[in-house]
Amino acid sequence: MAVATIESGLREKGLLVRSEEPLWPHTTMKIGGPAEWFVEPRSIEELAAVVETGAPLRVLGSGANLLVRDAGIRGGVVRLNRMNRRHGDYVEAGANLPTLVKETVAEGLGGLEGLAGIPASVGGAVAMNAGGRHGEIGAVVRSVDVLEGGAVRRLAREEIGFRYRGTALGERIVLGAELVLAPDPLAVEKYDEILAAKKATQPIGCHNSGCMFRNPTGMHAGRLIDESGLKGKRVGGAHVSRRHANFIVNDGGATADDVLRLVDHVRDTVRRKFGIDLELEIVVW
Ligand code: EPU
Repeated sequence: MAVATIESGLREKGLLVRSEEPLWPHTTMKIGGPAEWFVEPRSIEELAAVVETGAPLRVLGSGANLLVRDAGIRGGVVRLNRMNRRHGDYVEAGANLPTLVKETVAEGLGGLEGLAGIPASVGGAVAMNAGGRHGEIGAVVRSVDVLEGGAVRRLAREEIGFRYRGTALGERIVLGAELVLAPDPLAVEKYDEILAAKKATQPIGCHNSGCMFRNPTGMHAGRLIDESGLKGKRVGGAHVSRRHANFIVNDGGATADDVLRLVDHVRDTVRRKFGIDLELEIVVW
């Protein structure tokens, strides 16, 4: 379907469609070309209208854990940041995870403090079971609402299939999640401790996508990359972080091509040295 047709169809329903929207500002890496068309629905009804166009679509959360290629992408991008409300234990997919973690901890609620410092939207975090050594979001999810055939379907946690950095949700769009939060007088203390540990070991406050590679079973990708002597290795405007080797940092001028060439170099070097194939954790569009 032509972009103009999609645009006018959605405009009639009150949605604003932007064409050739640059995606780099919407990613934590600050890299990437434009989306052919781009829309930020404010409700499930608006999102359903976008899905009903039948056009190829990708869903964008906080743009963390994502690398968008320089050429950009054909088809549409739906950004869910406007669907971000919270009602008690229920949070919409577009809510910002770091803000939610901070907010619940400040309310004296425990459950999410282990996710301190993870850049994500709630929907993105649920879809990939974001987490680290202090816990995964899957552990505190009671149910997830997804959009299926234009209707909302609630999935119980058993149906979500949480595993290491993944779920069985596939292409289904996450609308929101019901969390298990319980009063915990130590929540603030734990949160502060975890955030401090993260700040000490990870590059925070610069443009990156979190960990680039999954940890191979029983091993740490960061350690393998470090022991391959790759800290500080640079391609164009991208380099392997000196603080944590599983992070690639954009110095400001990096292209997606720089990052992908550096990724290939890291993989080749680790394969030659350890005979291990590192698998990307980030998603590439
Ligand atoms: N290490 C090195 N050199 C490095 C980095 C790490 O030798 O440059 C060593 C550390 O000394 C430590 C071990 O590797 O002994 C593990 O390091 P760390 O505690 O940082 O944990 P990780 O396995 O590298 C995982 C998650 C992170 C998460 C942290 C902390 C993955 C791929 N990574 O990292 O998640 O923040 O635990 O909870 O699962 C992410 O997924 O984007 C991410 C950053």
